[in-house]
Amino acid sequence: MQAAQAMGPLSAPPYTLHITWKELLLTASLLIFWNPPTTAQVTIEAQPAKVSEGKDVLLLVHNLPQNLAACIWYKGQIMDLQHYITAYVIDAETIIFGPAYSGRETVYSNASLLIQNVTQKDTGSYTIQIIQRGDKTKGVTGHFTLYAELPKPYITSNNFNPMENKNVVALTCEPKTQNYTYVWWVNGQSLPVTPRLKQPGENRILILANVTRNDTGSYECEIQDRVGSIRSDPVTLDVLYGPDVPRIIPPFTQYHSGENLYLSCFADSNPPAEYTWTINRKFLQSGQKLSIPHITTKHSGLYGCSARNSATGRERSILTRIKVSRKWILASLAIGF
Ligand SMILES: *[C@@H]1O[C@H](CO)[C@@H](O)[C@H](O)[C@H]1NC(C)=O
Ligand SMILES: *[C@@H]1O[C@H](CO)[C@@H](O)[C@H](O)[C@H]1NC(C)=O
Ligand SMILES: *[C@@H]1O[C@H](CO)[C@@H](O)[C@H](O)[C@H]1NC(C)=O
Ligand SMILES: *[C@@H]1O[C@H](CO)[C@@H](O)[C@H](O)[C@H]1NC(C)=O
Ligand SMILES: *[C@@H]1O[C@H](CO)[C@@H](O)[C@H](O)[C@H]1NC(C)=O
Repeated sequence: MQAAQAMGPLSAPPYTLHITWKELLLTASLLIFWNPPTTAQVTIEAQPAKVSEGKDVLLLVHNLPQNLAACIWYKGQIMDLQHYITAYVIDAETIIFGPAYSGRETVYSNASLLIQNVTQKDTGSYTIQIIQRGDKTKGVTGHFTLYAELPKPYITSNNFNPMENKNVVALTCEPKTQNYTYVWWVNGQSLPVTPRLKQPGENRILILANVTRNDTGSYECEIQDRVGSIRSDPVTLDVLYGPDVPRIIPPFTQYHSGENLYLSCFADSNPPAEYTWTINRKFLQSGQKLSIPHITTKHSGLYGCSARNSATGRERSILTRIKVSRKWILASLAIGF
């Protein structure tokens, strides 16, 4: 039915028939008389150029010779009975099916072959043999390779927010496909090979044992085949770490009364740390900056900054002894001289 519709008005609907093996062998032997190629360059073009599973593809034949008698499609590059898909016999307006016919192929009077509901098995090479009327010594062949469209890969992970030196991260490039090469990209650079980065199983799974903050970044995976490649959307690996031991800035410990005590505390941490200040081990205030204007000698003491990361549950602190001395000593010394 579909074939008849697609035939167009020029030719009457063909009748299709399933013939016996004996008949098929006869037909085949009648049609296959292989001879050196003629000057005519038969080309085959797939529409679309790459086909994804479940879709249809039309193998268009260009530069079809004159006086077409029949055209035979083979799966693969061997023109034998086993690889015989289907043939169109022009004069008889007959379609013949061979052993390699899957039920999804339709050959048209212009020799084009429609493959419906393509599967992975349909990829590979095809050969068309064209027989011309009158001159039974001439046959023309064309070869074509049908490629499956690469599926767009995506990354799955057991953990996108691992903790430094604690979690093992396994990034997996999906889908699992046969005969493809997997390549990993980190921050736009092809993955540096270090002993810590193991890539078992054809690179599809990237294992980051003992993940560190330096593994934070944008990860992409790429699937490659003989003709092309396709990359996944990036995923972000956000390694939780810290806090490291805090630093107090500026590092000065000697102050004079009347000066301002402005201290900042900083500890590398992801997510950013929460800070608290202590004096003589007693809570002073929370926040990253400590600001006490016009200090007096009474502000001397043991200052502490504590950094806490609620995601890692870690807390680190540092202590610094600050001495505030009287300014008038210096003033009186100046007067004394
Ligand atoms: C051959 O016929 C099919 C079905 O009618 C059509 O889609 C296709 O464009 C034709 N091919 C050429 C090369 O004319
Ligand atoms: C395509 O093939 C699949 C599996 O081979 C089948 O389940 C599905 O029904 C087919 N679809 C069409 C439109 O023929
Ligand atoms: C994958 O490659 C192997 C060996 O190279 C081959 O036998 C097999 O047919 C290929 N599979 C697909 C789906 O192309
Ligand atoms: C992870 O790192 C810790 C400390 O750096 C080390 O003791 C441990 O052996 C490492 N584990 C692996 C699997 O590399
Ligand atoms: C991260 O990289 C920096 C710079 O290469 C290095 O100095 C540091 O030791 C690394 N940190 C970890 C936790 O591996």
